[in-house]
Amino acid sequence: MSNALNEYLSYCQQRVEQALQDRLPNAQLLPQKLHQAMRYSVLNGGKRMRPMLTYSTGKALGLDPDGLDGPACAVEFIHVYSLIHDDLPAMDDDDLRRGKATCHVAFDEATAILAGDALQALAFEVLAHDPTMTATPEGRLKMLTALAKASGSQGMVGGQAIDLQSVGTKLNLPELENMHIHKTGALIRASVTMATLAKPGLDPAVATKLDHYAKSIGLSFQVKDDILDEEGDTATLGKTQGKDKDNDKPTYPALLGMAGAKQKAQELHEKALDSLSIFGKEADLLRDLSLYIIQRTH
Ligand code: IPE
Ligand code: IPE
Ligand code: MG
Ligand code: MG
Ligand code: MG
Repeated sequence: MSNALNEYLSYCQQRVEQALQDRLPNAQLLPQKLHQAMRYSVLNGGKRMRPMLTYSTGKALGLDPDGLDGPACAVEFIHVYSLIHDDLPAMDDDDLRRGKATCHVAFDEATAILAGDALQALAFEVLAHDPTMTATPEGRLKMLTALAKASGSQGMVGGQAIDLQSVGTKLNLPELENMHIHKTGALIRASVTMATLAKPGLDPAVATKLDHYAKSIGLSFQVKDDILDEEGDTATLGKTQGKDKDNDKPTYPALLGMAGAKQKAQELHEKALDSLSIFGKEADLLRDLSLYIIQRTH
């Protein structure tokens, strides 16, 4: 990882940690257990990759990060809700997340379901009302639409449904890609799209290039997640290694072999870089993030 990315990463992480804290209900507020569960699951050391993409896209477009805390938090709230539900016994049945007990283990199943539900609602409340956002009302409405579509049955939730249906079956490559594009790619794409919508009058051709970039890294992110599930270690990952095999999930390494999966990740990285060719140094963070996604160890 380059020094510039390292510095920006820690700047964004600090920035978004504070922004998330500020927007979460206080743990003393009734119902306390629910609010504690929401805070427990959000404020526990995620990589914050999606907020980072929102800020970094903003940087490529010359936008001030102050106006992007709203969309950065909104997408992270949706992501955390998706993780809480993904870990439930009815889904992947995981007991470790971000190095700690999963929400349903630390609290209970009903509370975990409700914490996910409430985080989803909070995401849209933030986009609708956050006073720090500088996007125009039209830009904001488009952000709400983009995040809603990316979250729902034709986005992340749809991908999760395909994932669950596919357990024990053999998907072909286009089917596997379709599953990954939905369950993981959609939210990553929305992280970038929301930043483009914060820029009034953005040339649609530029927005399209950024969207192509986001599509490539959205897929490479899950390809790498599959690779790490097979060859990472539990302590570094903060989640139990080997769960995909245990749960008989279709994955890239299962379909293409480990070398094939790694080659796919590399190709997607190169495709992402190609999409950024119209940009100069202002998009270097986005370039670095694409490389980080395929080189990361957790
Ligand atoms: C894990 O996402 C789940 C996927 C969509 C692959 P991350 O790897 O971004 O998880 P955190 O937020 O850093 O914990
Ligand atoms: C999850 O994919 C995608 C989500 C929408 C949460 P995984 O099930 O592979 O994510 P991990 O490996 O549990 O983080
Ligand atoms: Mg899953
Ligand atoms: Mg899982
Ligand atoms: Mg996984």
